[in-house]
Amino acid sequence: MDESKLQEFMMKALGDMGATATAPMILLGDRLGLYKTLAEIGPANSTELAKKTGTAERYIREWLSSQAAAGYVTYDVQSERYFLNDEQKITLAEEDSPFFIPGAFQCMAAMFAAHDKLAECFKSGKGLDWGEQHPLLFVGTERFFRPGYLAHLISEWIPSLEGVEAKLKSGSKMADIGCGHGASTILLAKAFPNSRFFGFDYHRPSIEKAQERARAAGLSDRVKFEVAKATDFPGEGYDLVAHFDCLHDMGDPVGAARRVRETLAPDGTWMVVEPRAGDKPEDNYNLIGRVFYAASTSVCVPASLAQDGPALGAQAGEAKLRKVLEAGGFSRIRRSAETPFNMVLEAKA
Ligand SMILES: C[S@@+](CC[C@H](N)C(=O)[O-])C[C@H]1O[C@@H](n2cnc3c(N)ncnc32)[C@H](O)[C@@H]1O
Repeated sequence: MDESKLQEFMMKALGDMGATATAPMILLGDRLGLYKTLAEIGPANSTELAKKTGTAERYIREWLSSQAAAGYVTYDVQSERYFLNDEQKITLAEEDSPFFIPGAFQCMAAMFAAHDKLAECFKSGKGLDWGEQHPLLFVGTERFFRPGYLAHLISEWIPSLEGVEAKLKSGSKMADIGCGHGASTILLAKAFPNSRFFGFDYHRPSIEKAQERARAAGLSDRVKFEVAKATDFPGEGYDLVAHFDCLHDMGDPVGAARRVRETLAPDGTWMVVEPRAGDKPEDNYNLIGRVFYAASTSVCVPASLAQDGPALGAQAGEAKLRKVLEAGGFSRIRRSAETPFNMVLEAKA
């Protein structure tokens, strides 16, 4: 055994312990509005922050120290006050920023909550349906993915597809499959006021939340959300169908591809947004792969297995995904855009 390597590994594990212990602190900061309030009132001590947020000072004092030790808030020694620097603000307090991260930690809380059920799944090989997960997963997924869609969907991904932006501008029909809370559908509807949008998901509580979101945005006349499976969602003549971060979760991805093919208008486009991953497992043994393989083990693989599916996994990679698209009847497939987290595949019949 190499002593220095052991030391190095222990330091890495210590970092991971700190990160894991910080996660529930981030959830509290997000849930109780501590980050947002700190961003608003500027440098504050525990008494001031507690007063402003209606919380108990002793807890806030300890929380502030945990956050300063973690680098999630900044401590000013002179004034003995805490504040969020610009980078902390944009990532922790600004819901509409492309860098907003608390949603990811809500997903991770759901992963902890599923631990008992998953241990049974590991033994039985059975799945765990999306709807059987802790409700924090549903809102966490929306808030984790929405910043990426905000940053890239309208400005990069749609323009990367051949002819799609022009159709959406002049007025067309789009379906968002596995839409969850409808973050992507609503962004598209806001950007393209002449088009109509249909969001489908098999998880009823998510569809109800999406309907609420559409009402709140004043879009209910052009945006419809309905409970439906990817393999038999209603409608026809869609100019664009999209799957955002969900094809790999499905029980019958080839069946889902076939249904897209059946419902697309002639010359319609299928946009498949998936986590960006290399084809070989070892391509993904890195910082991003670490997050996605863990989430995939807790959420994506069990979701597909619960539907007797092939469990492609969140890090399926382009080669495996292409096979699914081809089996569903698509022959012209290309990667039209990518970010560090996502790849966008454009598929045409
Ligand atoms: C990781 S979430 C992504 C949600 C949403 N597209 C987003 O980007 O925020 C996966 C979604 O796929 C949905 N889903 C899984 N299997 C499905 C199926 N067979 N038919 C329809 N929806 C499905 C789940 O209910 C869940 O909302």
